[in-house]
Amino acid sequence: VFALVFDFMKRRQKCINYPPGPWTLPFIGSVFHVSNNNPYTSFEKLRGKYGNTFSLQFGWTDVVVLNGYEAIKDGLVKKSKDTSDRPTVPIYQRYFSGFGQGIVFAKYGQWWQDHRRFALSTLKNFGLGKKSLELRIVEEASFLNNELEAEIGHPFDPHFRINNATSNIICSLIFGDRFDYQDTKLLHLLEIIDESMLLEAGFWAKLVNMFPFIDGLPGPHRRIFQNRMKLVEFLQEIVAEHKEVWDPNEPRDFIDAFLVEFHLQMKATPNTSFTETSLFSTSLDLFGAGTETTSTTLRWGLLFMVLFPDIQEKVQEEIDRVIGTERNPALEDQETMAFTNAVIHETQRFGNIVPNSLPHETSRDTEIMGFSIPKGTMVIPNLSSALYDPKFWAKPHEFNPGHFLDDSGRFVKPEAFIPFSAGPRVCLGEQLAKMELFLFFTSLLQRFTFFLPENEPKPSYTRTKCGFIRSPMPFQLCVRLR
Ligand code: HEM
Repeated sequence: VFALVFDFMKRRQKCINYPPGPWTLPFIGSVFHVSNNNPYTSFEKLRGKYGNTFSLQFGWTDVVVLNGYEAIKDGLVKKSKDTSDRPTVPIYQRYFSGFGQGIVFAKYGQWWQDHRRFALSTLKNFGLGKKSLELRIVEEASFLNNELEAEIGHPFDPHFRINNATSNIICSLIFGDRFDYQDTKLLHLLEIIDESMLLEAGFWAKLVNMFPFIDGLPGPHRRIFQNRMKLVEFLQEIVAEHKEVWDPNEPRDFIDAFLVEFHLQMKATPNTSFTETSLFSTSLDLFGAGTETTSTTLRWGLLFMVLFPDIQEKVQEEIDRVIGTERNPALEDQETMAFTNAVIHETQRFGNIVPNSLPHETSRDTEIMGFSIPKGTMVIPNLSSALYDPKFWAKPHEFNPGHFLDDSGRFVKPEAFIPFSAGPRVCLGEQLAKMELFLFFTSLLQRFTFFLPENEPKPSYTRTKCGFIRSPMPFQLCVRLR
């Protein structure tokens, strides 16, 4: 009885006009209404019953899910000042509090603003949006191509080679260095990031987030902490190396620039948020977010190319016509390559790699789509619902580059295309990701044709691995030189 009364007291009284939602159970709330492997289908069912803005209860946390482009825009853009906070995530707070906040899970406020602004301006100083970074990506694409060339003649899984390539881009910006494709240390870290993206959104992490007091019990959630520690140790080594040869007058990369800022701020404001621990957390955020996302999108792209060879052929025709074989792809080519551009955008839309974005939280009482949402409510923008919204896409559940082409074959981008989310917390790496996607994708298809191995079952694009990131199930493909 005491436990039930405690549970009842913990649940906040809902305000009048709060969004409707399904029934809840004591302690666990309504979390069982959402499938871990396929939240999209669960959200669609609930949306059908309760409308575009509905509520859930995860343990004692009040949750509101925004569905469809209109509701997401109202929540994240029009009410951005009220909805740009992040919920406190116990699994990070308890385990990683020693490393300070990074950017991704930083609370909405001065800390987040300072670090986001600093990260963006530093990435720009080191080439974001400039020719120098474009050339670095093209160079990395040729290393990746050489790796794939070595696989001609037998089926292989491209996963970690592509991870290595995209990781090398963010590594050269943060650490000033790239890693060889045979480097076992980086490979191990990439496997850790891959596993963490699943575990940190998995059942055990959810359980600990709902009931933080159980975190001391044994369970797979402890692996999340071990993984994070390995990543931090890797960073500690790199930061130590940087400190040895560091010249404040000539910062070479993000870590050097952060050390300069740290020393400047320490002199001006001793209780600055630019500390060594925030250097670790911010670099780790950029490293993690910058690797798995772009790489998963490229893997979706290759999967669609082997499943739809006629589309692959049309992309190659356009590459041959605009770029030819004598030079590397360049970003300017995008303007004259409407079809390839449409295929890349459709890969992002249909691949839908961050289906529920990252959770937001209201920092004050607000109103979304006419519903009252109190301060401290978790807000989940269901990006899938916008990317598959039948109001904007003729065939939402098919891979159809025509979604991004008008009647005369010109490239168009419907406003519901929001794979990077929207509002002030929109993906910080959007520009970098777009550069990488175009240059890696066109370089691969300029050099190779991808096809399915003979006598093997066709890989499916409907069965997916779903954690923070929605990725295709492991698949094998073959390449031949063009
Ligand atoms: C946040 C998508 C690539 C860094 C996000 C969010 C999404 C997203 C949906 C959550 C936004 C929100 O909270 O509403 C993607 C996709 C990518 C990609 C689809 C590639 C195709 C990258 C890259 C970087 C990066 C390459 C590295 C620079 C970040 C960071 C945040 C973020 C730091 C947190 C922003 C904040 O809280 O202020 N991304 N991302 N992302 N992304 Fe990306």
